[in-house]
Amino acid sequence: MADEIRFFELNTGAKIPSVGLGTWRAEPGVVADAIAAAIKVGYRHIDCAQAYGNEQEIGHALKSLFDDGVVKRENVWITSKLWCTDHLSEDVPKALDRTLQDLQLDYLDLYLIHWPVSMRKGSVDDKPENLTQPDILSTWRAMEALYNSGKVRSIGVSNFSSRKLQDLLEVAHVPPAVNQVECHPSWQQLKLHAFCISKGVHLSGYSPLGKGFNRSEVLKNQVLHMVAKKLGKTPAQVALRWGLQMGHSVLPKSTNHARIKENLDLFDWCMPSEFLANFSEIKQEKLVTGASFVHETFGAYRTIEELWDGE
Ligand code: A2P
Repeated sequence: MADEIRFFELNTGAKIPSVGLGTWRAEPGVVADAIAAAIKVGYRHIDCAQAYGNEQEIGHALKSLFDDGVVKRENVWITSKLWCTDHLSEDVPKALDRTLQDLQLDYLDLYLIHWPVSMRKGSVDDKPENLTQPDILSTWRAMEALYNSGKVRSIGVSNFSSRKLQDLLEVAHVPPAVNQVECHPSWQQLKLHAFCISKGVHLSGYSPLGKGFNRSEVLKNQVLHMVAKKLGKTPAQVALRWGLQMGHSVLPKSTNHARIKENLDLFDWCMPSEFLANFSEIKQEKLVTGASFVHETFGAYRTIEELWDGE
């Protein structure tokens, strides 16, 4: 019997469901339907962010599901993220309150600093002039206050390199529980993942199908196709099961009912280790570079290398 890998335990003791529905680019008008479809086929983890612009609609969908008794609040894991314009310590609790109001919730299971990047308060686009110097420690202290208030049950970061995570761990009173980063067979994050394991930080993978920016090469990879054919699965399922067996939670986005179901059908089979070994042959390429957060005069990072500390 395959190890199902339905949850991962965080350093807070909480159990994060291993597959979450991604909601980036889940357009208003379809996202509510996707949430309802996902919960009905068994998803118990929804990954949101204020910056995705769809939290109000997700909130309506969740409220109906709770009111109709389809699922209980305590049985669904809900993550959201603090946007770069709200990093000042006095803005952090206000941003959380907005998210809670939009999602119609009284607590989050996980709240993440979305990027190690700060932008001018109130700015609505990513023009370089809006980039400012981040003060991650003071933002983190405000996140810790939210954790201590009980409004968020775990706190963490997203898009942090090993070095940025290390810097934060050195000063954190509450260590981050999660680092959510791009992770899929074509961007495996082996160094960062080893670092996260050594520090007890769970790595959660966004764009686990490698399609976040309308790219399709990742799912066309020969290794995925070979394994999929041998196991009678789809390349997407192979990519997601690889993530689970590596120890990542995976956050595939879909608004299509058949693909939502397909992406959760990962628990009653596993990938034999001889196939896992083939993944080391896959050419590595980062798809989400954060290029718009990099500028030679504005903000903290002059190059993409600096943003990711070479990772
Ligand atoms: P759709 O919403 O129409 O299903 P990622 O989470 O890696 O960023 O990938 C999201 C993209 O992959 C979306 O465009 C989504 O489109 C598509 N997608 C989701 N699930 C699958 C799947 N099982 N097979 C192929 N494409 C998928």
